[in-house]
Amino acid sequence: MRKLDHVAVVVNDLEEALSFYRDQLRMEVTQRRLLPEEGVRVAFLAAGESHIELLQPVDPESGVARFLRKKGEGLHHICLQVEDIDAVVRQLVASGAGITGPVREGAHGKVVFVHPRSAHGVLIELLQPVEEAASAGNMDKAQTK
Ligand code: CO
Repeated sequence: MRKLDHVAVVVNDLEEALSFYRDQLRMEVTQRRLLPEEGVRVAFLAAGESHIELLQPVDPESGVARFLRKKGEGLHHICLQVEDIDAVVRQLVASGAGITGPVREGAHGKVVFVHPRSAHGVLIELLQPVEEAASAGNMDKAQTK
């Protein structure tokens, strides 16, 4: 385990949520993205080395939209950075933990989700980041709006 990468909060309206997190809490927005294949719009805000991810569903059929309808706004998942995601998944599967699908290539690296029933009620995203060149950070900044 390297560090807590981010904590994700599902919101009804990203702009409204930013008016709290960005404007009132004065957190810096480091990235904004539309992820059509996941049916969400996201914004990342820096909290030291970690981030808060705000998630707004844009597709009513997405898992995040169902979550929002069922539970309302609030904590959606936490993301832990790992060195070797395949090794961690092998170990979890061997010990009977629930994984919500195969490891896949996400925007920031290889990711997989651990089912909340195996993690005492918390959905856990595991992330093995792509080894970024120093310039990758600037690319993220360029997408910030
Ligand atoms: Co996340």
